[in-house]
This record gives sequence, C-alpha cells and structure tokens, in this order.
Amino acid sequence: MFITDEGRDDLLSRGYSRRQMMRAAMLVGGGAAALAFNPEIARAAAGGDTIRISLNECWAGPMAPGLKASAEISAKCNRYTPDDIHARLVKTISTVENMPEDHISTWPGSNEALARSVLVFCSPAKGLVTADPSYETPVTAAKFLGAPIKGVPLTEDYRHDVKAMLAANPDAGLYYVCSPNNPTGTLTPMADIEWLVANKPAGAIVVVDEAYIHWTPDFPNNTANHLVRAGKDVLIMRTFSKVFGMAGMRMGFAMGRPDLINKLRAHDGGQMSYQIPVPAAACAAASLTETGLIGQRRKELVQVRAMTEDFLAKRGLRVIGPSHANMLMVDWKTKTAKEMQAAFKAQNVEIAGGRWAIWPTVSRITVGSRKEMEGFMAACNKVLTA
Ligand SMILES: Cc1ncc(COP(=O)(O)O)c(C=O)c1O
Repeated sequence: MFITDEGRDDLLSRGYSRRQMMRAAMLVGGGAAALAFNPEIARAAAGGDTIRISLNECWAGPMAPGLKASAEISAKCNRYTPDDIHARLVKTISTVENMPEDHISTWPGSNEALARSVLVFCSPAKGLVTADPSYETPVTAAKFLGAPIKGVPLTEDYRHDVKAMLAANPDAGLYYVCSPNNPTGTLTPMADIEWLVANKPAGAIVVVDEAYIHWTPDFPNNTANHLVRAGKDVLIMRTFSKVFGMAGMRMGFAMGRPDLINKLRAHDGGQMSYQIPVPAAACAAASLTETGLIGQRRKELVQVRAMTEDFLAKRGLRVIGPSHANMLMVDWKTKTAKEMQAAFKAQNVEIAGGRWAIWPTVSRITVGSRKEMEGFMAACNKVLTA
C-alpha cells in the first residue's frame, strides 16, 4: 500500500476520514487492478469448451501485427523499456487520436483509471452520478471509498438522461457517461454529452467511457475527443480489451487536460500508470493503427449481431437497443437473469446474469464469433423449450 504525502494531503483536504484514506491507499496500491474492481474479470468464466459470451471480450485474439510486435520485443525484455516502447505507444495514441502527448496516460486496463477518477473527483462530500444500468466500476469504487452515489435510469430510448443526472446531484464530483453503454450497447448523442459538460458544476468532471467506441460505424467521428482538446473538464477512457482482443494483456489509456491526467497519477506518484508490460505496450502500439482490421472486425460483429437479433426476434424475445456494440440485452420477461444464466450454463454457455438489479429479467449476451452465436442459438432453443 502506498500513497504520496501530496496524495494524503489532497484526500484530507477533501474530507476523507482515516479509514477512507486507508481504502484510498488500497485502491491506488493495486486494489483497482484486483478482481473485485473489475466486474468482467471478477466473474471470469470457465475455460474448456464452454461458449464464453459473458464478459464482452472479443471473439478473436490480438491482431496479427500486434502479436508480431509483441513477440519481437519480448526477446529484448531483459531491458525495462526496450525500443523506448512506452514513449512510442503514447506517440502512436497521440497521432491516431490527434491528441497532444501530455493529454494521454496509459494504464494496465482502463478499469484502473476509471476507479482512480472516482478517487480523485469524488469524496464523502462530492458524489458520483451514473446511469442505471451502466458499467459498475465507478459505483464499486465510490461505495468502497464512501462517496455518495446516484444512479439515474436511462431514457426510454436508452440514452443517458443527462438532465436527470444533473438534477439528481447538482453538486456532484463526477458524472459518468458510458457510450456505447455497457450493458445496453446504446449511444448517448454527443449533444447530450456536450450539454452535461456545459452545465455541470464547476470543479466536477465528466468521464466519458468509450470502451466500445471502435465497434460503432461512425468511429472515429463520434468520440468526445474534441471536448478534451477544447480544454473542457472531461476525461475519456479507452481500453484495448474489446475490438483489439487484448483483455488479458491489460492495456488502456485515459485522455484529458494535463492537470487532470496528472491528478489521476498523483496519489501513487505515477507508479501504476507506468506498469505496462512491454509486450502489451508493443501489441497495443502496433494494433492501434490497423484501421483495416478494426473495420473487418466491426463488419463481422455487425453481421453476427444482426443474425442473433433476428433469431431472438423470431423467438418472440424483446432485445433492448439498438446495440452499437458487441452485446445484446434480452428480456426473458418470465424468468430472472440469474435463472437464465444457470439454464444456459447447463448447456455449456456462459452469459452474464443478474448484474443489473433495475432489470431483473434481462440478460446481457456478448456477441461472439458466428460459431459461438450458433451455439448460443442452439442452446437458447433448448432452454426455451425445456
Ligand atoms: C464500459 C467499460 N469500461 C471499462 C472496462 C474495463 O476495461 P479494461 O479491461 O481495460 O480494464 C470495461 C470492461 O469490460 C467496460 O465494459
């Protein structure tokens, strides 16, 4: 456990108690990377021949150019930073995202940066506002640190209800917008995000989690990057765990004004943000520029997702959406998500179950490969007729 003097002073000045400070130290000392903070890893599915469509992983592994770069640099890993790879990764992100280098920080998974953003901008006095249902890490971190939490239902068309989010706590420290949203895959229009940024209280931050943005057909024209470049109080989170197929390599990054980026790193003196294994950094740098391969994966996803949606519609099941990402929310209506998870498990298919209490009869199905989804459909036919 480690927290800098500067970090401790910051927490004390924002009303953290001694007990909450201990927890903050645990969080920055690797706690955020630990299983409990990542709802996808925490529920890691079985291996073997199980069809694993529960964690929003990509059906394919790292891209070939990434694997090649990773293998080549592994031979030089007697050095801490062969080929200046960490700097090269930041340079690559900077070029691809059209973002100054000092606006970027890399992390071993975006989950880590996400948990830190709660530590930095929330406190016993400054709460978190999130959508419900949405990705749980900010809530988990806020609960752990003792910060107040408001969860605001999505709109009827499954956008973040930004006006209701602001009204829920007009003096919050952090407003979390996940777009496309996990678990619905739905997008919140940029105009809504811009409205929230323009109307949030001074000193608060809007975190835009773009973990799934590469799956959307409009990428790269639909990122909130321009808000960061314009110097707004915005942090953008990205991960390599989705379209890049690198979940096990633990790679992500945050983009924001340098003062915000430095705050994310301050409490442990920058330790964790530099803990990026060299092979993962090389794989990420070589994959990021592969727009052709990203497009191919997107095309494959769109086809397989449409096939799955079609099947579910024919079975008379309602799919919440439209999903623009590699997940579908299916409302079973008469069975709970937990019951359906167990029923699918008996068929050797892992789906997410019961994570979003607001929708107890809805399951999140990750869209996997065509073969995996054919397996899912066969299992679904069995489960529904059982
Ligand atoms: C919305 C969202 N944000 C962040 C993450 C965390 O990603 P990482 O694997 O980079 O920690 C996930 C993982 O599933 C996610 O769904």
